[in-house]
Amino acid sequence: MLLLRLSPHPSSVMGFRGFCLFLFAVLALSFEPWLLKSAELTCNSIDLRALTGFYNCVDSEIAGTWNKTASPDCCSWTGVICDSSTVSGTRVVGLELGSKRLTGKICESLADLYHLRVLNLSYNYLSGSLPAELFKLQNLEVIDVSNNDFTGSINRGMCRTSTGIRVLNFSNNHFSGEFPKDLANCTSLQYLSFDKNSLSGSLPESIFQLQNMRQLHLQDNWISGLLNNGFGNLSNLVKLDISSNMFSGDLPDVFGSLTKLEHFSANTNLFTGRLPTSLVNSPSLQILYLNNNSLSGSINLNCSAMKNLVSLDLGSNLFHGPIPDSLSFCQRLTVLNLARNNLNSELPNDFKNLQALTYLSLSNTSLVNISSTLGILQHCRNLSILVLSLNFHDEEIPDNVNLQFNNLKGLVLGNCKLRGSIPQWLSSCHNLQLLDLAWNHLGGTIPSWFGKFESLFYLDLSNNSFKGEIPRSLTLLQTLISGNISLEEPVSSFHLSIFRQGGGRGMRYKQISAFRPTLDLSYNMLQGPIWPGFGNLKRLHVFILKYNNLSGPIPDNLSGMSSLEVIDLSHNKLLGEIPLSMGNLSFLSAFNVSYNQLCGEIPKAVQFDTFPDTCFVGNIGLCRALCTCEPEQPPTHSFREKKTKIIGLPFGIGAATSFVLTVTGCFMSGWVLSKPKKRKNTVTRIGH
Ligand SMILES: *[C@@H]1O[C@H](CO)[C@@H](O)[C@H](O)[C@H]1NC(C)=O
Ligand SMILES: *[C@@H]1O[C@H](CO)[C@@H](O)[C@H](O)[C@H]1NC(C)=O
Ligand SMILES: *[C@@H]1O[C@H](CO)[C@@H](O)[C@H](O)[C@H]1NC(C)=O
Ligand SMILES: *[C@@H]1O[C@H](CO)[C@@H](O)[C@H](O)[C@H]1NC(C)=O
Ligand SMILES: *[C@@H]1O[C@H](CO)[C@@H](O)[C@H](O)[C@H]1NC(C)=O
Ligand SMILES: *[C@@H]1O[C@H](CO)[C@@H](O)[C@H](O)[C@H]1NC(C)=O
Ligand SMILES: *[C@@H]1O[C@H](CO)[C@@H](O)[C@H](O)[C@H]1NC(C)=O
Repeated sequence: MLLLRLSPHPSSVMGFRGFCLFLFAVLALSFEPWLLKSAELTCNSIDLRALTGFYNCVDSEIAGTWNKTASPDCCSWTGVICDSSTVSGTRVVGLELGSKRLTGKICESLADLYHLRVLNLSYNYLSGSLPAELFKLQNLEVIDVSNNDFTGSINRGMCRTSTGIRVLNFSNNHFSGEFPKDLANCTSLQYLSFDKNSLSGSLPESIFQLQNMRQLHLQDNWISGLLNNGFGNLSNLVKLDISSNMFSGDLPDVFGSLTKLEHFSANTNLFTGRLPTSLVNSPSLQILYLNNNSLSGSINLNCSAMKNLVSLDLGSNLFHGPIPDSLSFCQRLTVLNLARNNLNSELPNDFKNLQALTYLSLSNTSLVNISSTLGILQHCRNLSILVLSLNFHDEEIPDNVNLQFNNLKGLVLGNCKLRGSIPQWLSSCHNLQLLDLAWNHLGGTIPSWFGKFESLFYLDLSNNSFKGEIPRSLTLLQTLISGNISLEEPVSSFHLSIFRQGGGRGMRYKQISAFRPTLDLSYNMLQGPIWPGFGNLKRLHVFILKYNNLSGPIPDNLSGMSSLEVIDLSHNKLLGEIPLSMGNLSFLSAFNVSYNQLCGEIPKAVQFDTFPDTCFVGNIGLCRALCTCEPEQPPTHSFREKKTKIIGLPFGIGAATSFVLTVTGCFMSGWVLSKPKKRKNTVTRIGH
């Protein structure tokens, strides 16, 4: 029954199709005349001994099949690839043991697989160092030991014997020490990945003799020194990533020789000087990331030459303006980040022509004239994320009703000291998911059409001068009620930082996808009630209303915000009790109701015991136990009654339920790490 019901499910159909493809691949392989991986082959005794030696040093899930007694033919073992056409008959030529949960070390016996061509041990938990004997194998072509826990320095003389190595992938381990000096004999090398290790020292001259090199991944190490002119020798290079190292000095003017280079990343180094002429004239480059260096001069890209440029990140450097008009001729440009430079200019009118532009950040560039900036950018029809924070100081936000941003998903205009009120044109941004207008001087009311933003999940209007009530329509934000929240990153590898303050202390946005669903209306002059309907926002994680003039009770319904992690209602004029049901908010890790007019008992739930008293101070009379909002009663039998009522059964059940909920929930939010305080028996009054 169950199987019958499951089989029409789309994923099973895919699974079947996948199986057919797999079957086809297996059949195709077995007809390959020499590359056989089948039980017909008999394992060479030297190979068998080498594999058994290797196997004895590791622990893994392959254990079932690597069994000399049960299955004496090693060619049938998981991941072992044999070839019947070697000079000495059928021999092991490949070990494909990626993602096999291998732990332990690599023993020297592996180096007895004389005919080994491919060694793939990636995505395991292997540790220790790589045995030097491994590099005595003459036939080695591919070594992939990426994503393990290997330590030690990278072996010297790797290509002294193994001259045919094409692929070396050591990525994401703990290799340390100097960058290997003697690579000169690795003349066949096409792909070299040493990224995400702890290599230091400078690049050796020998690396510039590797004419076949296509991809060089050296990011996330401690490599220092200058980037040598020798790079110009690597004329087959397609991708070069040296991000997050300590390279310094000028970028070499050798990009004219790198005619195949498509991707150059050098983010987060110590480069200085101007952009070299050959770099800004490269016809092959598609991706150029130079974020977070100390590059200076003007942004003088020659877009007549750079016809393939798609993604440009020159953020966080010392470039000076103006923003060049000519940039608008890089017509394939999709991602442009010039944030944190001193460009001090208006946006050139010709930016209208950047029709492919999807993500633009000009945050903190001393950009002026917000009216003309928005007037120009509305013509970039594909614009999805626009970041303009920390510019336009003291300008008035334009209310030109004709502005149209139909595809805009994210608008960040925080910390611009903008004047005026929320403009009507914003209501036509039907696809808005993220809006940040915080830290401006905007006034008037929050329009009720905000409730119509069906995709909005992040709204920050904090630190303005908004008046009137919170529009009731904010309780209808569809995505926060039930929707799927997903803001696409412009390019997966593009790490966006948006600074609200000019460096130093302050808030900094991380990657957009890391944004938690948020409503922040703090530091305004909002009045009236907190609508019970907010309880419908099941997907909201952060709810901040502090420093307003909100009145009335905290609605019981707020306990419906089942994803809530942070709630701050402090510094308002809220009355009455904290609803006991808030104890059910099992993800809650921060709670603040200080400086209101609240009274009565603080909900008894594990998470509430972890909130310090400062979250409750400044109220009429909140307590951890044994008090009510009612005027004081004579402490006679009614006290005993209350004691049974509150401390007795109902509380016992409530605490047990919420404990189960919190233990499941809090591991995800992390707050359980702070040790819950021991429940006190004495009456503690907080407030005044
Ligand atoms: C090694 O195996 C992994 C799968 O486990 C695969 O993704 C990777 O491409 C392989 N490496 C090489 C160099 O073929
Ligand atoms: C490179 O190969 C030559 C000739 O095979 C050999 O003499 C030399 O020692 C090798 N150099 C290194 C650094 O391995
Ligand atoms: C560049 O390659 C040439 C040979 O093609 C070689 O003589 C020269 O030493 C190389 N330059 C560097 C810096 O390695
Ligand atoms: C920028 O570079 C500095 C060091 O050069 C580093 O400490 C900092 O983390 C980098 N910032 C970013 C956002 O990568
Ligand atoms: C810009 O590139 C074009 C096309 O490659 C070239 O003809 C022109 O000389 C370049 N301009 C400058 C200033 O380098
Ligand atoms: C704009 O985006 C659409 C949809 O992603 C895409 O098909 C189109 O090619 C883009 N336009 C330009 C000029 O890149
Ligand atoms: C409000 O914004 C101003 C800048 O406009 C900033 O200086 C101030 O620190 C902000 N206050 C709060 C409480 O965030």
